[in-house]
Amino acid sequence: MTLKRFFIILLIFQLSINGIVAQQLLSPDKNMALTFSLNDNGIPVYQISFKNALVIKKSKLGFILKNDENNLFDNFAISNTETSTFDETWQPVWGEENQIRNHYNEMAVTLNHQKSNRQMIIRFRVFNDGVGFRYEFPEQDNLGHFVIEDEKTQFAMTGNHTAFWIPGDYDTQEYDYTESRLSEIRKLMTNSITDNLSQTTFSHTGVQTSLMLKTDEGLYINIHEAALIDYSVMHLDLDDKNMVFEAWLTPDVKGDRPYMIAPAITPWRTIIVSDDARDILASRLTYNLNEPSKIENTSWIKPLKYIGVWWEMITGKSSWAYTDDLKAVKLGVTDYRKATPNGKHGATTEHVKEYIDFAHKHGFDGVLVEGWNIGWEDWFGHSKDYVFDFVTPYPDFDVDELQEYAKTRNVQMIMHHETSSSVRNYERHMDKAYRFMKDHGYHAVKSGYVGDILPRGENHYSQWMVNHYQYALEKAADYNIMLNAHEAVRPTGIARTYPNLISNESARGTEYQAFGGSKENHVTVLPFTRLIGGPMDYTPGIFEMDISKLNPDNHSHVNSTIANQLALYVTMYSPLQMAADLPENYNRFLDAFQFIKDVGMDWEKSVYIEAEPGSYITIARKEKGTNNWFIGNVNGKTNRVSNIKFDFLDNDKVYIATVYADAKDADYKVNPQAYIIKKFKITSKSKLSQQSVAGGGYAISIFESNKTETKSLKKL
Ligand code: NOJ
Ligand code: CA
Repeated sequence: MTLKRFFIILLIFQLSINGIVAQQLLSPDKNMALTFSLNDNGIPVYQISFKNALVIKKSKLGFILKNDENNLFDNFAISNTETSTFDETWQPVWGEENQIRNHYNEMAVTLNHQKSNRQMIIRFRVFNDGVGFRYEFPEQDNLGHFVIEDEKTQFAMTGNHTAFWIPGDYDTQEYDYTESRLSEIRKLMTNSITDNLSQTTFSHTGVQTSLMLKTDEGLYINIHEAALIDYSVMHLDLDDKNMVFEAWLTPDVKGDRPYMIAPAITPWRTIIVSDDARDILASRLTYNLNEPSKIENTSWIKPLKYIGVWWEMITGKSSWAYTDDLKAVKLGVTDYRKATPNGKHGATTEHVKEYIDFAHKHGFDGVLVEGWNIGWEDWFGHSKDYVFDFVTPYPDFDVDELQEYAKTRNVQMIMHHETSSSVRNYERHMDKAYRFMKDHGYHAVKSGYVGDILPRGENHYSQWMVNHYQYALEKAADYNIMLNAHEAVRPTGIARTYPNLISNESARGTEYQAFGGSKENHVTVLPFTRLIGGPMDYTPGIFEMDISKLNPDNHSHVNSTIANQLALYVTMYSPLQMAADLPENYNRFLDAFQFIKDVGMDWEKSVYIEAEPGSYITIARKEKGTNNWFIGNVNGKTNRVSNIKFDFLDNDKVYIATVYADAKDADYKVNPQAYIIKKFKITSKSKLSQQSVAGGGYAISIFESNKTETKSLKKL
């Protein structure tokens, strides 16, 4: 690791604009410029430009405090400015590459609120690919406990940009993205709010981060936050007359925003900028603004490829619940042995064994089983406090027998904890639940927060809940357990600090393809939005797109081709990847399934070949510790030919490339299973011109080979 931290006065320039002294901080490559000043009223103001073009116009910073005559907004004077530069390269435990450079110039401005004599620091970090800033409240006599009523951070846009947005909501991110001009958000809001089991929207112009924007001049801007700890989620509300976004913090049950105790810091507000969309995907700014790993020995944290007793419940083919007899369940009182099994329960010992056998046969690391524990009969919709205990299996699920069975087949069992959003109940049981896992050989858990939060009235994204997710993550680390939380707060790079956070859902995942479908270009947006903060358990790999084939009562259609599903293993980076379809569907298409078996899970490097939000993404990744490469292309709303070069390959080697592509007549609606598989001999000089249909794509596996093996193959 190389580490440099030194102070250089010359980093900042004093500019005098309209008589007001502004300080300018440049990125290491000098393309990004951050300007900071106080306006006439003593309000902090910043602006950002990239290659001399304005990206964020003059935008205000600060806070209104609750029940406090002194806000932290105007009336400031600058009492100190410190600058420094930082350059280190760190190795993530898992990731899109094995080395990440963290290189920035920093400026910390200490502000003195003149009326109250309170201190607030604004710390800016300017990277080559963007800017992060946060507020800090040092320990001081005049500021101890305080409640934020409103964070006034602004992001003033330079025009009526194109945005890829989902409605601002205190409880869910499970929305399809809408692509529109900023001025159209208000008009399109109502239609963009689709049903969810827990949802609280707040404004006709409120959107969520990570927000992806494109200007008419071809600049790509991404606004998000990093290191969201002990604070509430930041949404953005647009003043659509002036095109200014302002932070909109998620309130708690009382309507309050974060409760703070000095010394305290806020999360980083982040703005990633480039004139090349691929740089947004390659940016590691969000991770870089998080602390290094707090877990010293990370040897137990390993990428996992898994299957699960899951899609059959999501589609309604089988059930999480054991019986249909019980109207209500009281744990410790209800006797399940007296109930009649409904004949549809997925998590039976015998059925799980079939999954374990399939995992073993095809080299998967793990099997997730949902609906194994008692309580699913009335888990949802009753705002039940004591809902699950996470340790008592249904009578037809034998934990010990399955532990033994999985072990002999070298397959790990993955635990499932649906909390039903009864958070107090989960915390009440957490130690026992994690201990139970360790005692039965489980090292990874998928948790979930479906429905409205208990304590009643809390929001999924309030400070109190953010603290709960963090508590569950840190406690899991204490038990050496890897965590994948669904419906939890969207990630903000915290996996750098706690790499046992191996994935999250926190967006509209594949499950929605069985709940009515998602837009065919959804997966060309997610890497630019949801994935900016960390990996997603998107659960790809659906081969049967007609859901009525699994459950005649479910007429949903998966809006994707098989080739597109394969590409997702590369384009939707996650150290936890599921092959979500049923074994019987994979058995029908074993040649295509081969790609899912082969594809790497942990990467030495990633090459972002082509990218445009909403339209297409093509990524090549080299598997850690091998010479294997995998390429994924996902395509948006229109047919497209992708032209790629293989110049990232070693130029002294010969490889076999297997291309899994949409057939000419493939169509995500009416012919999604039409794919072709072609094998070629390739070198670093090879080029490929490949068509992808709308909602389609291609996947390529590339293995190093020798002359004899490739003799009969056509050269690309
Ligand atoms: C919603 C999750 O996203 C899904 O994966 C899970 O199966 C259900 N909740 C039940 O816990
Ligand atoms: Ca979900």
